[in-house]
Amino acid sequence: MDFEKNLLEGKVILITGAAGGIGEMVSKTFAQQGATVILLGRKISKLEKLYDQIEQAGYPQPAIYPLNLESAAPHDYEELSNRLGEEFGRLDGLVHCAATVGGLTPIEHYDIMRWYQVLQVNFNAPFMLTKACLPLLKQSETASVVFTTDSVGKQAKAYWGAYGVSKAALENLNKMLAEEFESQHIRFNCLDPEATKTFFRARIYPGENPQTLPSPETIAPAYLYLMSEQSKEISGQRFTAKELLEKL
Ligand SMILES: NC(=O)c1ccc[n+]([C@@H]2O[C@H](COP(=O)([O-])OP(=O)(O)OC[C@H]3O[C@@H](n4cnc5c(N)ncnc54)[C@H](OP(=O)(O)O)[C@@H]3O)[C@@H](O)[C@H]2O)c1
Repeated sequence: MDFEKNLLEGKVILITGAAGGIGEMVSKTFAQQGATVILLGRKISKLEKLYDQIEQAGYPQPAIYPLNLESAAPHDYEELSNRLGEEFGRLDGLVHCAATVGGLTPIEHYDIMRWYQVLQVNFNAPFMLTKACLPLLKQSETASVVFTTDSVGKQAKAYWGAYGVSKAALENLNKMLAEEFESQHIRFNCLDPEATKTFFRARIYPGENPQTLPSPETIAPAYLYLMSEQSKEISGQRFTAKELLEKL
């Protein structure tokens, strides 16, 4: 992929699920392109490992923000926003990568508590986090928010339960936000990475040969495109990584 260097120089970008398969590669790619990345995840040891890798590579010093999205309450998001405000004064980007599948189950047998948990992590948390970050995103000259979606968010499929519903809801929220901020300098888009070689995918399709799948490294440029000024006229859209990579 032929990108200019330092496409994200000076930008401050928060990434959820930063220690996950896709989130980690997105975080490293953004840092490599000059961004200060705020790594949000629930396991401090994984975040610290990623922090060290970014620092040792000589990229801008990242920050770590441990938060469990299943148990986080509205005041936790307010606190996060306040702390980022004090530290950085603004936010230029927000990428939602964190998600949980919760297992594939027919609705007839779907555990109610699991339904709540999946919707909490995959939908309520991105809603609360985005809402809390809006004042900081407004402080940016041009901000970009990316929701990571899935094909089952666009087209319902049996057994995907709360995961599918959460992604459909995210896609709806994305359009709503894009319309509400149409005349402002914050853009919102959904990105579907499609089948990618991560633990997430392996858990759902244990019999699949992972070598047949694209790596997170292959799809990271699609996130970079949506975060960079190259996409500054684009909002309220839904893309697959493949669609964007073909354009680049
Ligand atoms: N891989 C694919 O084939 C594929 C296809 C379509 C869409 N997607 C989407 O791509 C995104 C990234 O997925 P991935 O493949 O990179 O999966 P992954 O490696 O499992 O990463 C998911 C991340 O979400 C974090 N997370 C889960 N529950 C959390 C919680 N309660 N609080 C905070 N963080 C939590 C995980 O943290 P821990 O590390 O602590 O578990 C992990 O870092 C997801 O939104 C997924 O829906 C993936």
